[in-house]
Amino acid sequence: MSTLLDVVVRDMRAQARDIVSIELAPAVAGTVLPSAEAGAHIDLHLPSGLVRQYSLTRPEARPATYTVAVGRDANSRGGSRWIHEQLRVGTRLRIGAPRNNFALDPAHRRVLLLAGGIGITPIYAMAQTCDAEARDWQLHACARSAARLPYQEELRALAGDRMTLHFDDVQGRPCDFRALLGRQRWDALYACGPAPMLAAVREAAAHWPAEAVRFELFQAPETPQATRRAFELVLARAETTTTVSQDESVLDALERLGIEHPCACREGICGSCEATLLEGQAEHCDMVLSPAERAANRRFMVCVSRCAGDRLVLDL
Ligand code: FES
Repeated sequence: MSTLLDVVVRDMRAQARDIVSIELAPAVAGTVLPSAEAGAHIDLHLPSGLVRQYSLTRPEARPATYTVAVGRDANSRGGSRWIHEQLRVGTRLRIGAPRNNFALDPAHRRVLLLAGGIGITPIYAMAQTCDAEARDWQLHACARSAARLPYQEELRALAGDRMTLHFDDVQGRPCDFRALLGRQRWDALYACGPAPMLAAVREAAAHWPAEAVRFELFQAPETPQATRRAFELVLARAETTTTVSQDESVLDALERLGIEHPCACREGICGSCEATLLEGQAEHCDMVLSPAERAANRRFMVCVSRCAGDRLVLDL
């Protein structure tokens, strides 16, 4: 389990419609915050026990504070709604150290950044890194309206004519990603936004090499219940075998056995529940691993991923 840090909300401000930025400083003077690279996120541990992941807006080696942006989710189960309605300057919170499942590959020198709405947060951090490292980069940001896209002023100052904007209400239609991604002159595409937008991007970039298309999702798609099968789970170090039923996850099975295992999002997006796969073919349902990592069949997110066969052996 990663170490938790005590922080206090130093500043909160509206960045766009239903989007607030939150600046977090160490609660104890003299505490050094771990450095964060572009694409990193932190876990916010809310008083209700919920843990939510939010991307950092700045890549920084020795940050004095962290800043995240939080969009109010209309279907909030208490995370973003609590933050918007209850969180105040001066509130103390616990956070996890930054983790990065969406890192910029140093080999990618020509980079296309693509963001939708609140998905601009990690992309803004990436734009700062691309700029600082003199990479060849462009940013395309879209939102339903201008009022829903945060950090526009900062991005304009940073990106200048490297940035193009698309607002559905102005153009009268959603962005045409096929036109944008039809010709591939970039080493890689990094995209973050809501699931429907990323599905459209994935389709439009189908002709790109799989490793050149990197996504950060806010929510992993659900595996339909009907396609799930029960399987045998062997925990090599615990010397225990159990059956994971169609209705439960590997994480549920671990908890049923009284085995403590780190987890945060429980949705396959944060990477905190990773385990090492020793035997068996995984059915990867997370949004953390790249296509190459999935193919390597070694890393496994126990909260959502399942078994493509009858038996999995984990190094737990
Ligand atoms: S708990 Fe977040 S990926 Fe599993």
